[in-house]
Amino acid sequence: MEIEIATLLTEIEKLTEKEILELLIKRYPHKVVFSTSFGMEDQVITDFILKNKIPVEIFTLDTGRLFYETYTTWENTNEYYHTEITPYYPDAKAIERYVKDNGVNAFYNSVPLRQACCHIRKVEPLKRALAGNKVWITGLRAEQSANREQMKMVEWDETNHIIKVHLLLHWRTEQVLSFLRKNGIPYNPLHDKGYPSIGCAPCTRAIREGEDFRDGRWWWESKTNKECGLHIHK
Ligand code: ADX
Ligand code: SF4
Repeated sequence: MEIEIATLLTEIEKLTEKEILELLIKRYPHKVVFSTSFGMEDQVITDFILKNKIPVEIFTLDTGRLFYETYTTWENTNEYYHTEITPYYPDAKAIERYVKDNGVNAFYNSVPLRQACCHIRKVEPLKRALAGNKVWITGLRAEQSANREQMKMVEWDETNHIIKVHLLLHWRTEQVLSFLRKNGIPYNPLHDKGYPSIGCAPCTRAIREGEDFRDGRWWWESKTNKECGLHIHK
């Protein structure tokens, strides 16, 4: 697998995003998927996929706790591209048990309870969404955190046994936003209200001048915890 990853990394080095997507779909037909949270970078990737009619399945993990604005962005995206993005939902029994045992906002009470909520609402549905596929495209960017700065565009995901491709890893925020605005692509209005990174509503707040990109995510926890388990990077 290491050789496959290294080969891909070299091959994509001089390619455009569209060419990278084309290469992936040619090499792994019907086995390339893209996860969108309707964040700014995800909207750029969705545009590359749908405007160029590249047969990549686009899915989203609806945790049930997303912002109103995120659902509106989802609907606007479906309408704009005449598409239906595939939703994955948490296991109903698991959520029912968790809320009954711990409370409806239990994620504020402890790190393990927060992680358990992320596991039920994101990590387990993600596993189902990725099963049987070979490549998982994400919108992670180096600028978002020190951890993400260390990443390469192609990685092996040991948890889900899949090749991860961070298509916009080296794009800057201004580049992402200007691409969206220039092309009239719908995006989450919260980005213009101090939310550079948007997750679930109860676990995301706007950031203030001088704060880091992800300071508004799980802000009550220490900085080292700020991942939900979707992207475990060793
Ligand atoms: S997270 O790990 O903190 O939740 P982040 O919000 O930075 O992730 O998003 C990084 C990438 O993870 C997105 O570009 C997208 O590919 C994926 N992702 C995050 N949340 C979701 C979601 N709810 N549904 C689908 N993909 C998601
Ligand atoms: Fe639960 Fe918050 Fe994680 Fe969303 S981000 S799954 S609400 S703990």
